[in-house]
Amino acid sequence: MTSLSLTAKDKDTVEAFWGKISPKAAAIGADALHRMLVDLNPGSAPVEKHGATVMGGVAEAVAKIDSLTTGLLNLSELHAFTLRVDPANFKVLAHNILLVLAISFPNDLTPEVHVAMDKFLSALGLALSKKYR
Ligand code: HEM
Repeated sequence: MTSLSLTAKDKDTVEAFWGKISPKAAAIGADALHRMLVDLNPGSAPVEKHGATVMGGVAEAVAKIDSLTTGLLNLSELHAFTLRVDPANFKVLAHNILLVLAISFPNDLTPEVHVAMDKFLSALGLALSKKYR
């Protein structure tokens, strides 16, 4: 796995890329979720809706990129204690989001953007896992 420490340049890259893709965030989130929920057909209403919710969380994480762990403590607590989501799924979803970004923005996902987004999504998953320990 990529090192989690985001450099200042990585953060700038994530913010700039997010600025570009955020208008399509809901569709990206829905596609990424569908790829881990094989029993549900693309276009199913709850998954479409939750795709937007998850990407709302990613948007929050972009805004809190300098303090991911403390910034996302409430969201971590929700997933750990209330929802009881297996944290292994954070990695699966992060992978799927990156995959959908590569499909949707092939020209923008340069190696530099790829590595910055990979680090960011990994750090996001780690922050969400905080309350499991
Ligand atoms: C990038 C990773 C993720 C982010 C940013 C994220 C974000 C969010 C957000 C913002 C909410 C709504 C919280 C609220 O209503 O206050 C939520 C709810 C939820 N999340 Fe996640 N989530 C992630 C990963 C996952 C994964 C991997 C699963 C399960 C496999 C999951 C399952 C759920 C469920 C079941 C809910 C409640 C849905 C509902 O009440 O309608 N999340 N998540």
